[in-house]
Amino acid sequence: MRDNEGVYKIMNAIVYYSNTNQSKRIAGYFADKLDYALLDIFDMTEFEFDNLILVFPIYCQNLPDKIKKFLSQTQAPNLTLIATYGRMCHGNVLCEAQKKFGLNVIAAAYVPTKHSYLQEAEFEDFKELDCVVEKVLAPCPVAIPRSYKNVFSNFLKNQRSRIGVKIYKTPQCDGCNICSQICKNNAISHGVTNKDCIRCLKCINACPKNALKFKLRSPMRIYLKKKKQNKLEIYI
Ligand SMILES: Cc1cc2nc3c(=O)[nH]c(=O)nc-3n(C[C@H](O)[C@H](O)[C@H](O)COP(=O)(O)O)c2cc1C
Repeated sequence: MRDNEGVYKIMNAIVYYSNTNQSKRIAGYFADKLDYALLDIFDMTEFEFDNLILVFPIYCQNLPDKIKKFLSQTQAPNLTLIATYGRMCHGNVLCEAQKKFGLNVIAAAYVPTKHSYLQEAEFEDFKELDCVVEKVLAPCPVAIPRSYKNVFSNFLKNQRSRIGVKIYKTPQCDGCNICSQICKNNAISHGVTNKDCIRCLKCINACPKNALKFKLRSPMRIYLKKKKQNKLEIYI
């Protein structure tokens, strides 16, 4: 519902930012359990909620810029933060978000999922998230503890994926340019990426001809061979 100042006021909602569907799957589970509205972050501008569950991926051990912007514009007395990560390292994202944005966080979780760049199992332990659902229904503040963050994780954080991953188009590309329509960073046109591309792979996911592919360069391949973490961490 839009008020006179053009601000959306929504009682209860799950908002997701998801480029390879992992966060969206988890957001969908919460929406089914709670019967809250399920909203794509890109369909929204300014917002006020009563109860909000925000589900998003961790990028380079940091909050994606889109989430930073959204949090700085959002009011929600009862906020739940669900950060999905590709079993590499989640950094200190949730604790940092709580500190930086002075949020009214009532629950939070780091959820291990399939990494955007790897063929791995998706998250399936949905039942483990039911304690978060219960906390949303009986809200009170939670303190998120600090967790390990690699000291170099802020170094070139917006470039590391660009350097490590190449996106290219194959002859199947028929020039429909859907890639450019779905990329909210204006980072691709007719299958050719520009310097704004963060390698989220949304374009590859959306290409109807399966004409976009990606290739991992050596540093990224080596990094992704590191021992995986598979820990679901819940704070309620
Ligand atoms: C640009 C980029 C950076 C990422 N950085 C990390 C990271 O630092 N640690 C990690 O464990 N996973 C990382 N991932 C993996 C994603 O966090 C994980 O696959 C997430 O579930 C993707 O969510 P989505 O499918 O909803 O977009 C990264 C993925 C991308 C595309």
